[in-house]
Amino acid sequence: MDNHTGNHPIGVFDSGFGGLTVLKSILKELPQYDFVYLGDNARTPYGTRSFDTVYQYTLECVKKLFAMGCHLVILACNTASAKALRTIQQRDLPNIDPSRRVLGVIRPSVEEIGKITKSNSIGILGTNGTIQSESYVLEIEKLYPAIQVYQEACPIWVPLVENNEHLSDGADFFVQKHIKNLLSKSDRIDSVILGCTHYPLLMDKILKYVPENICVVSQGEIVAASLKDYLLRHPEMDARCTKASKIRFYTTDSTEMFDKQASVFFESNVKSIHLAL
Ligand code: DGL
Repeated sequence: MDNHTGNHPIGVFDSGFGGLTVLKSILKELPQYDFVYLGDNARTPYGTRSFDTVYQYTLECVKKLFAMGCHLVILACNTASAKALRTIQQRDLPNIDPSRRVLGVIRPSVEEIGKITKSNSIGILGTNGTIQSESYVLEIEKLYPAIQVYQEACPIWVPLVENNEHLSDGADFFVQKHIKNLLSKSDRIDSVILGCTHYPLLMDKILKYVPENICVVSQGEIVAASLKDYLLRHPEMDARCTKASKIRFYTTDSTEMFDKQASVFFESNVKSIHLAL
């Protein structure tokens, strides 16, 4: 199945650019590993699509990453983690290759927020898909049943970022609107998860409207620390991941467009390769 025999990078997948914010943090923790980033830009956004569509798209991309030699894939996309991860882990992996692993971003984020909140009241900001899936609510119920979860879907935030409008004055209106909506649901909220990998790019504006006593958690560092810990706890997987500090970027859409926009998320230049679906 491996196209690149002997080369087993860690796969990092997102519906588009957002996962680059996660990859950037992962590289700080694990610079010695090889990585392949795959952005499904041709079919982005995932946040507005049905459960079944997100599952089909994500599975297809995971299979492509497996075919490129990845034994471990991170779904660096909340929407894909919310709508596809469980089915892929439970139904598909046993048939494809039970020794490979696919991990998401929701579980590590929930583990972390549980340690931060003092009031046991937290807020989640995410895409329509992530919020409607109730994945955060269910995961928190499992790990921290005493925590109350308040959610707010922010459907305009991803398009603002994707259209490079995240620093504009116009973005303030939508950032303020959704923060206000979320915080009006409870005055006990003391921590908020940015449950979408695009949202760190709106961080300056988000902090403008969130009171200082509320902790805003973005996922890059959390997912990076959790991956490092996973590799320590799973030496058999760690041994399979190759370590030559090589990174390759793939996009399902135009490479020119990807390279131009990717640097906004990745904060350094990117040269991508087109991947036909
Ligand atoms: N980056 C995706 C996430 O973390 C959202 C983008 C999209 O809607 O495709 O949920």
